[in-house]
Amino acid sequence: VVPPIVLNDGSLIPQLGFGVFQVPPGQVFDTVTAALRAGYRSIDTAAAYENEEGTGRAIRHFGLPRDEVFVTTKLWNSEQGYDSTLRACTTSLDRLGLEYLDLYLIHWPVPAADKFVDTFRAFQRLKADGRVRSIGVSNFRVTDLERVVAETGETPSVNQIELHPRLVQRELREYHAEHAIATEAWSPLGQGTMLSDPVITRIAGEVDRSPAQVIIRWHLQLGNIVIPKSVTPARIEQNFDVFGFELSAEQMNAITGLDSGTRTGADPATFAVGLET
Ligand code: A2P
Repeated sequence: VVPPIVLNDGSLIPQLGFGVFQVPPGQVFDTVTAALRAGYRSIDTAAAYENEEGTGRAIRHFGLPRDEVFVTTKLWNSEQGYDSTLRACTTSLDRLGLEYLDLYLIHWPVPAADKFVDTFRAFQRLKADGRVRSIGVSNFRVTDLERVVAETGETPSVNQIELHPRLVQRELREYHAEHAIATEAWSPLGQGTMLSDPVITRIAGEVDRSPAQVIIRWHLQLGNIVIPKSVTPARIEQNFDVFGFELSAEQMNAITGLDSGTRTGADPATFAVGLET
């Protein structure tokens, strides 16, 4: 059983979930079905992934009671603003075929701070209306978080950021911990780039687990919410089987020591792609 993380609004999110970034729309039904079968009860998608429809269809077809699966989606940059956010939420709910979202995130802190503040005000309205249970952000820096809190009086429940052993995000994780913001890691395996790192493979040998399992376990022990992606059923199952072992303090420190500030995705400080889409 996956332990839950308690969000600052009292809601519970499973600490381990399944991400569908880069899962092609034609493959997402089978992939999400495999994840639910493996035991995942949290699914993370986004309007920009263009796979909300198949994701929602898989969740509904699997047939769990709605409150037994935690569904996250994200608002794309071009929809930022108060009224457009309300419309975008309706569109995402329609595509997913759901009555409410468990978590709605602002995908990026762009195009501008006044826009994401208005967007977050619309999120507050969606929450008050019961269309969204929890509201948060993604790829926000400390300055962006401070702006939202100062102007809306509400602290986002989650900040989903790129986070893996080569990008440990110490400053943001400390800020989150001080302000009761849950840290959620995207590309938790560094998009697969560090599975052959010698430190990771050495520790994998020591605990008799795969490199991916070691990295997921590192996230869990750091307290991160973690959403590995795979389209391969055996890997989907393997990545869920991470509760029967523990990393020592020495092993945790060795993995954290791999931090080199290396991103696999866009840098929020410079990201402007997709504003026109
Ligand atoms: P695939 O989807 O082809 O199975 P991240 O979650 O950091 O973005 O990493 C996703 C990448 O890591 C994908 O390329 C995925 O491959 C690969 N991956 C996920 N789980 C495993 C695993 N257990 N072993 C090896 N590669 C994995």
